[in-house]
Amino acid sequence: MNLPSLKEAQKRTRNKIPFIEEKYELSEDLKKLGQGKYYYIKTYGCQMNVHDSENIKAILESMSFQETEDFEQADFILLNTCAIRENAHNKMFGFLGRVKHLKEERPHIITAICGCMAQEESVVDALMKKYKWVDIVFGTHNIHRLPYILERSMARREQEIEVFSKEGEVVENIPVKRDSKYKAWVNIMFGCDKFCTYCIVPYTRGKQRSRKPELIVSEVEDLVKKGYQEVTLLGQNVNAYGKDLEDPCDMGTLLEMVAKTGIPRIRFMTSHPWDFNDAMIDVISSYDNIMPYVHLPLQSGSDRILKLMGRRYTKAQYLELVSKLKEKIPNLALTTDIIVGFPGETREDFEETLEVVKTCEYDSAFTFIFSPREGTPAAKMKDITSLEEKNQRLYELNALVNEYANKKNQEYLGKVVKVLIEGPSEKGNLMGYTETMKLVNVDGNEETIGKIVDVEITDVKTWSLDGKVV
Ligand code: SAH
Ligand code: SF4
Ligand code: F3S
Repeated sequence: MNLPSLKEAQKRTRNKIPFIEEKYELSEDLKKLGQGKYYYIKTYGCQMNVHDSENIKAILESMSFQETEDFEQADFILLNTCAIRENAHNKMFGFLGRVKHLKEERPHIITAICGCMAQEESVVDALMKKYKWVDIVFGTHNIHRLPYILERSMARREQEIEVFSKEGEVVENIPVKRDSKYKAWVNIMFGCDKFCTYCIVPYTRGKQRSRKPELIVSEVEDLVKKGYQEVTLLGQNVNAYGKDLEDPCDMGTLLEMVAKTGIPRIRFMTSHPWDFNDAMIDVISSYDNIMPYVHLPLQSGSDRILKLMGRRYTKAQYLELVSKLKEKIPNLALTTDIIVGFPGETREDFEETLEVVKTCEYDSAFTFIFSPREGTPAAKMKDITSLEEKNQRLYELNALVNEYANKKNQEYLGKVVKVLIEGPSEKGNLMGYTETMKLVNVDGNEETIGKIVDVEITDVKTWSLDGKVV
């Protein structure tokens, strides 16, 4: 048993980051462990978790488990969890209730929890005391150890907890079963050292650690060979990529290396405004296969609140960066994340956020009410704003965001844009995304699936576009 510790999770040292690069290999026994058994994974949270689930699926299939979409059919049920806000917690505990009923009917099923909630000391405490029937808990640092954890659990049938609170390693060669044949997630770094005062991620994912550039490039080259059209380079702060490497590299250099593989579309997320340098902007603007789309979390438009959040930039610096991006990257689409109701946020602070939204004219924004996370500094800050007031601010903010989202989409009416067709849409046509990440419902034939085609935009909604292949 290995339990998470908040104290350990907070630590950062100058110790070297271990790179684990051996081949992924299992014994013959482990390869057969899942024979005749079905697994079901439910994934919460960000793209990082979605991609981790793609790794977990491949690991389970290397053990002969088969995937099922119907959780009532599964022999192994895994919840890959997110800890970012209270409602992520609630959703997972809600689903766990359903799993419990199923387990009462079918006691042989194995249930497991992994992901960011599994890294939380208080969550694992609750799982040990009140959810003894949950068979396995493992964390974000030891996904590759799943075969051994499962083997032990199946042999002992006691609650198996293996969570490490540590800075972490860079583990290469974990197999992957990608959800899409056209678009791929590629990790370029793990963890985060920014410690924004509201955020749990630095505690659940460990220290910032970058993958070696040559290994990222060879992963993308392999995807090109397989016919992939798009990669999204993933990290909590992709702009800080490479700073922690022994042979330092930076995001501009990496983007250029990836662009030269010839992959048709490159995206990256998330960008922290603090590390966005001019060289990187130049690279984005000089390669056609680097998409003109930047997700640039603002969080707040008030300098006082930004300081309390530990975001390391001011409103003026943020706006200067946005104007530089817009100037150098033609037809840039810009999206953001905003938190309302941070402890101490006044009406005036909130209005400054609205002002920034008006200046930046975001294509869209993810907006949240501040949710105190145990162990983070902001959770201890005095918060006097009522929930009613916070809801009101969120409502006002969303109305403004939608207005600009609609305005931005209107600019597309009648234009011909490039769309990567991904498959059938809910409405029975096809669907795909523009270079600027706009969802398009496309009238066209199925032969275009997996291809980038010219689409004429015929109708515009706030959150999507309609179009036809030309
Ligand atoms: N690494 C990214 C953010 C990852 S979390 C970045 O730095 O931009 C995604 C978003 O969730 C954040 O941008 C923030 O807006 C929101 N978020 C994080 N912690 C939160 C909290 N405690 N309460 C409300 N929203 C939060
Ligand atoms: Fe969280 Fe801040 Fe790190 Fe983003 S940069 S993951 S918001 S601590
Ligand atoms: Fe959630 Fe962890 Fe991602 S907390 S947002 S799944 S890094």
